[in-house]
Amino acid sequence: MRDRLSSVMTSLQTFLEHQPCSQTVKQTILALADAAEAIAQLAAQTSLSGHQMAAVTGGNNSDGDSQKQLDVISDELIFNALKSLPLNSYFSEEQEHAQPIDSEGGISVACDPLDGSSNIDTNLTIGTIFSVFPHTGADGPGTGRSQLAAGFFAYGPQTSLFLTCGQGSFGFALTDSGWQAYEGGALMIPARKCEFAINASNQLYWFQPVSAYITSLLANADQNKVNMRWLGSLVADAFRIFRRGGIFLYPADSRPGYEQGRLRLVYEANPIAYLVEQAGGRATDGTTDILDIQAESLHQRVPFIFGSKEEVETFLSFSAEQDVS
Ligand code: AHG
Ligand code: MN
Ligand code: MN
Repeated sequence: MRDRLSSVMTSLQTFLEHQPCSQTVKQTILALADAAEAIAQLAAQTSLSGHQMAAVTGGNNSDGDSQKQLDVISDELIFNALKSLPLNSYFSEEQEHAQPIDSEGGISVACDPLDGSSNIDTNLTIGTIFSVFPHTGADGPGTGRSQLAAGFFAYGPQTSLFLTCGQGSFGFALTDSGWQAYEGGALMIPARKCEFAINASNQLYWFQPVSAYITSLLANADQNKVNMRWLGSLVADAFRIFRRGGIFLYPADSRPGYEQGRLRLVYEANPIAYLVEQAGGRATDGTTDILDIQAESLHQRVPFIFGSKEEVETFLSFSAEQDVS
């Protein structure tokens, strides 16, 4: 069975041979895939004796979030996988500053080493998000359009990888014979109506366009065949949207500290937005496409709305009426 499967599948390595990106980018993706395999194994053993991965370390990352063991270990595993490559720097959500690797290197990597940390102890999907881009300085990338490759690993019932090198978005799963491509070629986000993902417990604090959009979705729930899903792991919500379509919203709101939403431009929104556009979807902050936003600081947050193109454009028609997202 295993032999028969491997003879008809395309490995990640074979896929990369046909991508237009440089050798360094290809090596980087393979190194990240090795680190992801190790993280998936640790995630699978959490809460067993000696594997208290959900335990807080007592520290905070530069965003003020409390760090879990698995946040810190994932960050180390990724840096160790990358540090012998000819890369310039490693940028991590878990670290205030870039970690230099090779000053001659022209390419850098940014990661959210462990996305969905609050789900580690709930046996829900968590993941790793990554972005590979030309190095322009210790302040991070310019805009997301310059990315050379991006994607995420999801650690769920299946360990999977969604990847773009700029010529479509593709899915892979970790099998007994390594990373193998999903059947069917490039991923396309379906236009079907409509599962929406928003943390509705923040409703009191939403700005008017967000409230108006959600109210209108719910008011037409019958025709729209509307359903709601919120997993609390961006990778898991994104995975579903690639498969079934719909919309994800983490908008700005009026809570102190949420003036720019919660998610980070460099580590989360840029790489997911690149995958989304390459799969025919749309990703915006409410006024500007995510990939056109100039990063001003490494850890900046951004309102993040993405999904099926038409549905995101419906949301935009609400936010255009009032210039607040
Ligand atoms: P991280 O675990 O890297 O800090 O990211 C968590 C993010 C994202 O995965 C998710 O969509 C969002 O935070 C959930 O936020 P709320 O808890 O505010 O719903
Ligand atoms: Mn995250
Ligand atoms: Mn994280």
